[in-house]
Amino acid sequence: MPLKQLKIQHVRNLDDVSLSPLSRINILYGENGSGKTSVLEAIHFLGLTRSFRNSQFKHLVSEGQEQALVFAQADPLATGQAKPLGVERHLDGQVRARYAGSSLGATDLAELLPIQVINSDTFDLLDGSPGVRRQFLDWGAFHADPAFIHQWRGFKRALKQRNSLLKCGKIDPRVRRVWDAEFIQYAEQMTALRQAYIDQLKPDFEAALGALLQGIEVRLLFSPGWDQGKGLEALLHDSFERDLRQGFTSLGPQRADLRFKVGTLNAADRLSRGQKKLVVSAFRLAQGALFHRLSNRACIYLIDDLPSELDERHCRQFCEFLQASANQCFITCVDPAYLSRIWQPETDVALFRVESGTLTHRGAPGDQE
Ligand SMILES: Nc1ncnc2c1ncn2[C@@H]1O[C@H](COP(=O)(O)OP(=O)(O)OP(=O)(O)O)[C@@H](O)[C@H]1O
Ligand SMILES: [Mg+2]
Repeated sequence: MPLKQLKIQHVRNLDDVSLSPLSRINILYGENGSGKTSVLEAIHFLGLTRSFRNSQFKHLVSEGQEQALVFAQADPLATGQAKPLGVERHLDGQVRARYAGSSLGATDLAELLPIQVINSDTFDLLDGSPGVRRQFLDWGAFHADPAFIHQWRGFKRALKQRNSLLKCGKIDPRVRRVWDAEFIQYAEQMTALRQAYIDQLKPDFEAALGALLQGIEVRLLFSPGWDQGKGLEALLHDSFERDLRQGFTSLGPQRADLRFKVGTLNAADRLSRGQKKLVVSAFRLAQGALFHRLSNRACIYLIDDLPSELDERHCRQFCEFLQASANQCFITCVDPAYLSRIWQPETDVALFRVESGTLTHRGAPGDQE
């Protein structure tokens, strides 16, 4: 279990709160506006130095404060020994992250604390732009293979360089050949890692989907961003005049997508809201299951308002999947009545009551009866 204790300072309406002891499944309940989502944001901040809400960092910092700070006793590498992990970020832009006494950069921190969010923006994975799906694909490829980040950075550099040459309008053919060769090399290597990740993920996705939603078959189709049968070199050559007119590169991994298909239709056009939530959740839970299989480490799941959009049966199936997984989960809800009685007695569950920015540990379900 990655997080043993948490201390949050100056995150939205959470002035100074502690969550201790943490369990594998942590349920946070309370009225609207009490601070439940803010706790999830604070944990996200601990792993990624930013919120998952689509807003600027300054909105995360409590009004009138200069910085947000989250501190944990953590064992993200599953060594059996918790060590201090702290992240603080000032409004002036300074970020400091430390684990076990050493400073960490953003990439090391993201690698250390793998986090997945399931919330009302979850639908974006089906309904949103390919960019959203590429982010999820790359989250997985990043955690699955240490070579990915190197390829990804090299590719971004080559793409940026090629696009700025295209924008200039006049390109020396020798310079173009050099950058195209670099672009193609990184594009192919990065795409091979994306493809390998999807191939590994498919069985986990099928298993998670079968557990969460029965009777619907969803296929994952990876499209790399160009026709691999024709080859990237030939296609870049053919599209060069168009790229020059547009001022950017029209083909390559920057155009990759992951399609979710039900029969011949896109899942986005075919499924109900509850079904969409379950399909996307199955995808994200499959990513955590694969991560655990590859690394023997657990993922942290931040699940905001788990029961929304779901009937009792699907909510129970969702919780059964979490129960059987290795994940550490932070689940919010308004009314804890149903979510507190759904777990097997041996499951490590804790309830936290959230009230106007304060948290009370209520023990395991049944302790209050
Ligand atoms: N920067 C900020 N400083 C202080 N308070 C803030 C800040 N940003 C938001 N808040 C307040 O923090 C409170 C907690 O918000 P949060 O979104 O965590 O509530 P919630 O418990 O998830 O509610 P809901 O059930 O409606 O989703 C809200 O009352 C909100 O107005
Ligand atoms: Mg909320």
